[in-house]
Amino acid sequence: MFFIANWKMFGDLNAVNSVKKVIKISKYRNFKKANIIYCPPYTLIDKFVKITKNSKIKIGAQNCHYSQNAGPFTGDINADLLKSIGANYVIIGHSENRVSGDSNHIINLKIKSAIKKKLKVIFCIGETLKERKRKKTNLILKSQIIKGLKGIKKNKEIIFAYEPVWSIGTGRIPKIDQLERQIYDIKKMIKKIWKSKNSKILYGGSVNTKNIRELNKIRSINGYLIGGASQKSKNFIDIIKKTIN
Ligand code: PGA
Repeated sequence: MFFIANWKMFGDLNAVNSVKKVIKISKYRNFKKANIIYCPPYTLIDKFVKITKNSKIKIGAQNCHYSQNAGPFTGDINADLLKSIGANYVIIGHSENRVSGDSNHIINLKIKSAIKKKLKVIFCIGETLKERKRKKTNLILKSQIIKGLKGIKKNKEIIFAYEPVWSIGTGRIPKIDQLERQIYDIKKMIKKIWKSKNSKILYGGSVNTKNIRELNKIRSINGYLIGGASQKSKNFIDIIKKTIN
């Protein structure tokens, strides 16, 4: 099971203490089954890579630029730079980046550049509330998957994260039976392209210590992408424990 902490634009240097607590507990035997990955802001990646060095915890970024080469892109960071400081993962296609301009095409280029630099990708997909109400969910997800994966061969280093946009940061999650069905549909969409049944799919959107037991009823989910609830070590650990125990 994957537990990916998406810290978004939160976390100063004191945040290190929160991670240290998780490092400590992750050494227990029952945490063996948990793949814990922190995606802090760029400013903390180097620090987090260093403090997690002798632990099972891996570090990722929340985005990257699509250019595989260095270039005149003020304020941007590409996969190459991330890899050079020890990041192993990168989130691509998060809805918060889609609204600020990441088209499916750009996302496709970003995924390609990340794979090229041997970063593992957390590829986010999800529909808005408006799209859901218009019963366009599967149409949107299919288009995000097909366009995002264009020209990319079956790759087990790409993990999918289904994050309904209306669920992110709102405290609302889909009904369990609907979510289960959605995960099934997404697996089917990926299978059509890659002929592979074993793609990993995470759920993201308002995962917290209260709803995690309910979410865990869905056997086909391979883990969670967790925003708000991952910042406090106590909550993050609680979510992991309730899932693996
Ligand atoms: P949330 O964020 O858990 O705070 O809803 C999840 C995400 O945006 O990845």
